Amino acid sequence: MKIIRCKDYEDMSKKAAALFFSQIHMKPDCVLGLATGSTPVGTYKQLIEWYEAGDLDFSKVKSVNLDEYVGLDGTNDQSYRYFMNENLFNHVNIDKANTNVPNGKAGNMDEEALRYEALIESLGGIDMQLLGIGNNGHIGFNEPSDAFDKITHEVKLTDSTIQANARFFESIDDVPKTAISMGIGTIMKAKKIVLIANGPKKADIIYETCFGPITPHVPASALQMHPDATIIVDEEAYATILAKRGE
Ligand code: F6R
Repeated sequence: MKIIRCKDYEDMSKKAAALFFSQIHMKPDCVLGLATGSTPVGTYKQLIEWYEAGDLDFSKVKSVNLDEYVGLDGTNDQSYRYFMNENLFNHVNIDKANTNVPNGKAGNMDEEALRYEALIESLGGIDMQLLGIGNNGHIGFNEPSDAFDKITHEVKLTDSTIQANARFFESIDDVPKTAISMGIGTIMKAKKIVLIANGPKKADIIYETCFGPITPHVPASALQMHPDATIIVDEEAYATILAKRGE
């Protein structure tokens, strides 16, 4: 696991975007694993900037997103499909037919989960997966539990995640209570993983993720076992690591 310490959010976003820039240049038809939430917005902005400058070509890129709320379709402005269209896909030359987000409106979530796993396999797996991290250590919607979730599955969101996500909805009652998410096993199969985190609220969980025990109670700690995981954090998210080292 490699940790890259950055000055601030902008610096973190630029460094993360640079890894995706290289990935797309090295393999123009690569499969990108993408995330939503507030953390990756700056990374996507930077990629759009490079696209607009003529330095990036998404025409052959394929993408698979980590997760989606159950019950929301792509036209709902709180859905993750909508987020991806707004924050990246509508602004670059990616073919929307090559972009994939789990279907939150599928009738049968177990079948949808299997379809999504098979889809990722059929694309040849994920070349580079972008991750944010929840304050409780979740990645995708893999919440702390007694066992690592292996494959894509329906998940009941914890109160802490519902509260954290309420900022995007009119009221906390509007936040969906379930989601469909790649499992830890799905994420761990990605060839490269890039996790980004910023701000003081993420400091303790970043320490646990990088230096705590590998436990499903901190789902992101599984990344310690990944052969090519890069954690990109700003000064504030790095603070607990510094404090514990007495620096
Ligand atoms: C989003 C996702 C989540 C977020 C996490 C952090 O697709 O899978 O795990 O990455 O909740 O969210 P932010 O970036 O809003 O702090």
